[in-house]
Amino acid sequence: MKLWAGRFSKEADHRVNDFNSSIRFDSRMYKQDIKGSLAHAKMLSAAGIISSEDAEKICDGLKGILSDLEKGILGFDFDAEDIHMFVEEELTKRIGEAGKRLHTARSRNDQVALDIRLYLKDEGYEIIKLLDDLLKVLCDMACANLETVMPGYTHLQRAQPVTFAHHLMAYAQMFMRDVGRIKDALSRMDLCPLGACALAGTTYPTDRALTAELLGFAGPTANSLDSVSDRDFCIELCSAISVIMMHLSRFSEEIIAWCSWEFKFIELDDSFSTGSSIMPQKKNPDVAELVRGKTARVYGDLMNLLSMMKSLPLAYNKDMQEDKEAIFDAVDTVKLCLATFTPMLSTCRVMKENMRAAAAKGFINATDCADYLTKKGVPFRDAYKITGELVAYCIAKGLTLEKLPIEEYRKACPEFENDIYEKISLETCVCERRSTGGPAPTEVKKQIGSVREFLNREDENEKA
Ligand code: ARG
Repeated sequence: MKLWAGRFSKEADHRVNDFNSSIRFDSRMYKQDIKGSLAHAKMLSAAGIISSEDAEKICDGLKGILSDLEKGILGFDFDAEDIHMFVEEELTKRIGEAGKRLHTARSRNDQVALDIRLYLKDEGYEIIKLLDDLLKVLCDMACANLETVMPGYTHLQRAQPVTFAHHLMAYAQMFMRDVGRIKDALSRMDLCPLGACALAGTTYPTDRALTAELLGFAGPTANSLDSVSDRDFCIELCSAISVIMMHLSRFSEEIIAWCSWEFKFIELDDSFSTGSSIMPQKKNPDVAELVRGKTARVYGDLMNLLSMMKSLPLAYNKDMQEDKEAIFDAVDTVKLCLATFTPMLSTCRVMKENMRAAAAKGFINATDCADYLTKKGVPFRDAYKITGELVAYCIAKGLTLEKLPIEEYRKACPEFENDIYEKISLETCVCERRSTGGPAPTEVKKQIGSVREFLNREDENEKA
């Protein structure tokens, strides 16, 4: 019998039951559901809406359910409509009358809005921890590669020399912003919807500030209609997660390229690579490829949530039950990806010589050659043209700028002197790029320092 069966003369068709039920996916919020009910019962008794004896029975009953679920003594009833109904029915089975009083001045509409928020708050901090782990690995790897020269690319064409440390620190910036976006979403999520009831609040003298406080929120939500129909917080978190996945997918794409024979800039550890069932020589970067692939499914989750909410009238609509599978999938996926990506990265072997060799080809010091002339008073456009012609000459003769004889330089422009070779050496090109944020080791050290400072931050909420 459904708890709402009073109004009905027939049982729901079994197909409707299955179709309607959400317990298969909302049972994972059992802890949050029970936590919410404990706070609600305490508030009801503090406000004199139920007796303290009833509140005590309810709380003991709920704690018993929680511990039995955790011990595996109690299993979910998958015929139940949802986790909220399941807990309430189980409570009433256990404690009788008092159990039936728990749902006073509450609805599943505010209850589910609360449970998801509580669940996502915890998950949000987990994601931040995983991002911090990745940032730490990036700092350690950067420290070990401050002088590892590699080609920097634009259009995937060798462009100017950078270092591997500089490249890694670019990702560190992205992941730090990601932490910021998650925190930002969490801070807006930090209001308690419980007590909004079905949509229009209640005539009982409830104390929503107390419930909010008991549950660790900054305060109660401001409008009851909004409280039960807002799913912005899922969309916002999913959008922040999508950006993380986008960053991971770019990084993965580079790792996949770097592992290829064409680049061979890194080699993944055997324990983070996979083989082919037919080609014995293969060592594949499956982890990075899967992270890249899973990015698509997280974008799908975001699109799912946005489309589901589009045009929904106020307040609660059953469509909104679809929110959970999407946001849970996004959260699970990003956590899984981060937890696998980070150790894959930290165990990879950096092939410094190959990076250096790639940087030596491709004329990535041509800008420095032109700058050399400019610093001697040649207008940049002329210097650019002269250098372009020298590059063309080198390509035709199979030379590099480092190997081009000084006579050839001087033929092109008499301003060239013997110090040109030192000025266009890759080490000079990197070390001289000391502009703020540039690849010079001195600059990259500062970047690492600021990431480490970020990692040492003290945040009360995060530690909670
Ligand atoms: N299982 C529902 C959900 O996930 C809970 C809220 C149901 N409320 C209702 N009035 N049917 O959205």
